[in-house]
Parts: sequence; structure tokens; C-alpha cells
Amino acid sequence: MRILRWFLALTLAGILKAEDFTSQQVASKVQSDLTPKLSKGSFITFKEPPRWSTFKAPDPAIVVNVKSEFDVAATIMFCNLMKIPFLAQNGGNGWATTFTMNNNGVLINLAGLNQVTFSADKKQATIGAGALINTTIHAANNAGALVATGNCNCVGTLGAYLGGGYGNLMGLFGFGVDNIISMRVATADGKLQTVSASSNPELFWAMRGAGPNFGIVTSAVVKSKPATPNERSAWTGALIFTPDKLEQVVQAIQDLDLKPEMNVFLYFISSGPPSNDPVVLTTPFLYMGDATSGRAAFASLYEIGPIVDTTAVLPYDQWNTGGDGFCTRGPRKPSFGVGIQNMIPGDWRKVWDLYTAFQKKPGAEGSVVLLEAYSLTKARSISDSSASFPHRGVNFNAVAIAWYEDPAYDGEALAFGSAARDIWRNSDGLAENRTYINFANGDEDLLVVYGSSLARLRTIKKRVDPGNKFNQWFNIV
Ligand SMILES: Cc1cc2nc3c(=O)[nH]c(=O)nc-3n(C[C@H](O)[C@H](O)[C@H](O)COP(=O)(O)OP(=O)(O)OC[C@H]3O[C@@H](n4cnc5c(N)ncnc54)[C@H](O)[C@@H]3O)c2cc1C
Ligand SMILES: *[C@@H]1O[C@H](CO)[C@@H](O)[C@H](O)[C@H]1NC(C)=O
Ligand SMILES: *[C@@H]1O[C@H](CO)[C@@H](O)[C@H](O)[C@H]1NC(C)=O
Repeated sequence: MRILRWFLALTLAGILKAEDFTSQQVASKVQSDLTPKLSKGSFITFKEPPRWSTFKAPDPAIVVNVKSEFDVAATIMFCNLMKIPFLAQNGGNGWATTFTMNNNGVLINLAGLNQVTFSADKKQATIGAGALINTTIHAANNAGALVATGNCNCVGTLGAYLGGGYGNLMGLFGFGVDNIISMRVATADGKLQTVSASSNPELFWAMRGAGPNFGIVTSAVVKSKPATPNERSAWTGALIFTPDKLEQVVQAIQDLDLKPEMNVFLYFISSGPPSNDPVVLTTPFLYMGDATSGRAAFASLYEIGPIVDTTAVLPYDQWNTGGDGFCTRGPRKPSFGVGIQNMIPGDWRKVWDLYTAFQKKPGAEGSVVLLEAYSLTKARSISDSSASFPHRGVNFNAVAIAWYEDPAYDGEALAFGSAARDIWRNSDGLAENRTYINFANGDEDLLVVYGSSLARLRTIKKRVDPGNKFNQWFNIV
């Protein structure tokens, strides 16, 4: 935005040539030519909605805050006419380093499309493209239903779905992509269409794993399940361990028999001010569990002897509350995700040493290492070829997240994250390096994120988006 003002000044001073006016032209053309085509309730802003990480964040010239699917289509057509880039934003958590707007083009803020509604039998939910996970869970809870979502309130419900969609209920429901029945999609030509198993099935396959490369979803119909209050509860919370227990905790997670109702996360995280000493934290989760069944399911963790135990029965609309701090917008958070097959205590000790060395730097205390372990039986009962999401075979996902304000830390932050990733990769038991696209850094080879789906995705891409308008997110070329 600063550059935009600078462009304006230079334009007025007559210093730049016509073809350099892009930013200024975009801003004034959007206001003069696009605004009349937009629906009531839509509006234009110059300030981007805040993002989870400011590190290499998208840098548009202007933001169109849409209020209907027609606004999305009209904005795409307008951008095509102007030959300028555009990018959709839902939750604004995408941390990839693949954005290349360079103060040009339009950010299409989907926040205004945040309706979540349920069918009379509660077996289907229609989720607007602006709905956050918090919005979706509250609507489901009020309706007396459960919907597969991710585990952080601030994340875009569909933003997470379009890359795969891991979450607390996936042991029972499968991945987010497995729950999509149909989508309304604005494609590269600015046309709106319904995409489902029977209507444009190729696009349906492609968008469930690589959605951001093929269109803008304006809403999706997904499966939901009617549920009584008791069926909307879980045993969950935090168990905190002293660092000497790390190897035991890692081994316990490796050995856990994860039933479909269960999942567990492991974090390296600050214990909070003033000491900010790093601790080992786990969050066991047992759907419909109580103190007896929860402690039994995770007995191997409780036996290690946590110094803090907040586990309790929590209602559906509070499952994610413990993670709200992780949702904090900004500052810089370059992140390195990786799929791994086995939890190896010695590897995790090496990552701990890298983590604590970085995390003790003043201003980097918020840095986090994260490991997610889900029951995959349900997800693996669904065919690999049903959707482009390629990682059903991966057992665990880990992420190293450097969290700091001062760009002077960038070099050390990237060194920490990529070194942690190297440790995980080098002994992970996978034949090739694999990363869930929504956890990837952006520096990976496309095969690492798209896996065996890449070739078919390229073919479909040439047909559906021949001009490669959707090129900002792990660009399929
Ligand atoms: C705090 C935190 C918690 C997380 N928890 C989980 C979790 O529990 N499970 C999980 O699977 N992942 C999780 N993730 C990863 C998350 O799935 C990705 O960050 C995802 O990209 C976020 O989507 P968003 O809508 O919030 O972000 P955005 O940055 O708005 O979107 C990410 C990308 O998707 C595109 N996009 C968004 N909406 C649409 C749409 N409607 N149509 C087309 N393209 C679209 C955007 O253009 C962008 O390229 C988490 C991330 C963070 C930061
Ligand atoms: C989630 O939504 C509820 C209900 O609208 C609201 O009270 C709460 O503050 C929200 N939480 C977050 C983290 O946004
Ligand atoms: C996987 O990643 C590791 C470490 O980052 C690298 O050394 C190795 O060459 C990669 N393997 C493949 C098959 O690309």
C-alpha cells in the first residue's frame, strides 16, 4: 500500500510511463469501473485484513470485500480485462511463501460470505467461503449437528478443506475433502458453476486437494451429522511435561493405538512470561470421552507424569478454545511442515535442541514446534483416487514455526525451520519427501505437495485455467 501512494506521487509528477501505472490504475479503475457492478454490502478497502503471518504475505494493490458470488465472478472478469492478478482470502492463515502479487492486483476478501446453514435433517451444511472454523462450529452447535473442521477457530473452514482438511473429527468423518458434496465455484473465466461428483467431476477431483489453483469456491455443501449435546462433547485439554520427559512422550505417541475417536498433538511451546521457558505439551482428544475413558485411552501419557493437567469434558464449541493463542495475527512466522511415518525419540531431541536455541532469543519466545497424530483408518477406507489430496498414507504431520517481529531474525528463523525439517525427513520412513500443502513452506518441489496427483492436476489445469490465473498458491505449471 505504501508503494501505491509512492506510485501515485510519481504518476502525478509525470515520472513513470503508462505501463508502470498498474497499481494506481488498479485502484482507480476498481473504484470507477468495478464498484458499480458489485452488490449492495460489498466495499473496497486499501488495507488488507490481518494475516496469521506477515512473512512474505500477499501484497495486493486493493481489496474487494465481496458480498455475493456474483461479486466474486465480476471481480475475476474485471481483473482479466485489466490483466492484473487476483487472490481469494478466507481465514488469512495460509503461510506459504509462494505469493507474488508485488503490490499489484486485487485481494478478494471472502469474509462477507460467512453464512453457515443446515438442511432440515441436519445431514448437510452449506458453508460460505468466508466462514471461519469458529463460525462453522458455533453454527453447527446451535443447529445440533457436527461438521468436520480444523482445530483452530481463526482458520478458514473451506481454506483448510481445499488442501485436505485435518481435524478433531477426521477419525470418524475422514478428511475435509471427503465431506464435500458440492461446491459453487467461480472459474478463471469469471463463470459460476456447480462442481460435484456428477457436475464437472474432473474439477471436483482437482479442487479437493488443490482448490486454490482451479477456482474460487463461493460456498460448499458438506456432510454434517445430527448430534445430541452428549454427542457434542469430548475429553480434551493440555498435559504439560518437563523437557526431560520428551523421549518418553514421543515414544508413547508412536505406540498409541489411536482409535477413530482419538487424536493427540505434541507441542514445543513457551510456558509463558516472565520465564518463557520451553515445555513439552500434549493435547489428548477423545470424542465423547469422560475422565475414566479419557484417562484410560491416554494412560501411557498420564503415566509419564505431567506437571500440569487441564484435561476435562468440553462441549463442542470449546474444543478449539485452548488454541486461540496460536491464532494471534502477525508478526513473522515462516513455517516448515513435513509428513513423517514414525516418531523417533532421538530425532525429536535434536529438534528440541534446535528449537530451544532459537526460542530463547528475545522476541522469538512464541516460536512453536507442532506434531499432529490422527486416526487414519476412516480416511484410508476412502480411495486414494477419489480426490487429488495425495497424503492418505502419511502417518504424522510436524511443523516448525519461527515466530518473531524483527526481520533481522529471518536468516536464523529459516535455518532453524529447515534444519528441523531435514531431521524429520532424513529418517522418516517415507520413500519420498511429502508435505501436506497447507503446512508446506513454499520452497518444496511441487511433487512434495501434490505427490502422484501432479500429472493429472497439470492436465486439468490446462483445460480449466489455460491462462493460469490461479497462480499464487503452489503454482501448478
Ligand atoms: C493457527 C493455524 C491452525 C491451523 N489448523 C489447521 C487444522 O486444524 N487443520 C488443517 O487442515 N489445517 C490447519 N491449518 C493450516 C490451514 O489449513 C492453512 O493455513 C490454510 O491455507 C488456511 O486457510 P485460510 O482460509 O485460513 O487462509 P487463506 O490464506 O485465506 O487461504 C489459503 C489459500 O487458499 C486460498 N483460498 C482460501 N479460500 C478459498 C476459496 N474459497 N476458494 C479458492 N481458494 C481459496 C487462498 O487464496 C490462499 O491461496 C492451520 C493453520 C494455522 C495458521
Ligand atoms: C467464536 O465465536 C463466538 C460466537 O460468535 C464468539 O463469542 C467467540 O469470541 C469467537 N471466538 C474467536 C476466537 O473468534
Ligand atoms: C528429502 O529431503 C532431504 C532433506 O531435506 C534431502 O536431503 C533429500 O535429498 C530429499 N529426498 C528426495 C528424494 O528428494
